[in-house]
Amino acid sequence: MTVHTILKMGDPRLLRHALRVATFDTPALHQLVADLEDTMAAANGAGLAAPQIGVDLQVVVFGRDTPNPRYPDAPLVPRTVLVNPVITPLGDEEEEGWEGCLSVPGMRGVVPRWRRIRYQGFNAQGDPIDRTVEGFHARVVQHECDHLWGMLYPMRMRDFSRFGFTEILFPDQPQEDD
Ligand code: NI
Repeated sequence: MTVHTILKMGDPRLLRHALRVATFDTPALHQLVADLEDTMAAANGAGLAAPQIGVDLQVVVFGRDTPNPRYPDAPLVPRTVLVNPVITPLGDEEEEGWEGCLSVPGMRGVVPRWRRIRYQGFNAQGDPIDRTVEGFHARVVQHECDHLWGMLYPMRMRDFSRFGFTEILFPDQPQEDD
């Protein structure tokens, strides 16, 4: 079990366009996935991308099979390992929602996202993934995959009057971050 330090906004490694994984089902890829899952679990995160632990590869993990104690009312997103993802917006409808990020600790902001998307990619074994999702699930996928293109959620924001410290915005919520 390896819990890594999560890079914070300002680190140039978070701004890179990550490289595609060339070979699946390798010990190195399985180790990376295990490290991402351990690190995400330790932080109680909704998702984590390889660049956030300094690894320049297109690998993200997100979701969980039991409710997050920090967000008991959030819709359940299935536990997923997604490699070399491609996202296709379905329709042009956007939806605003509050987001946080383990790389932007202590903050929350309102981010517009595509409401409905198709996402494709592979798991660590190289089996294809092809899903059509909407709402919270679509938001989580867009947030995590953005990390692979060097995008952090504040870079997607349009209204900075709805950006601030979690403890001020949501004083009744648990104060860790995702
Ligand atoms: Ni994030």
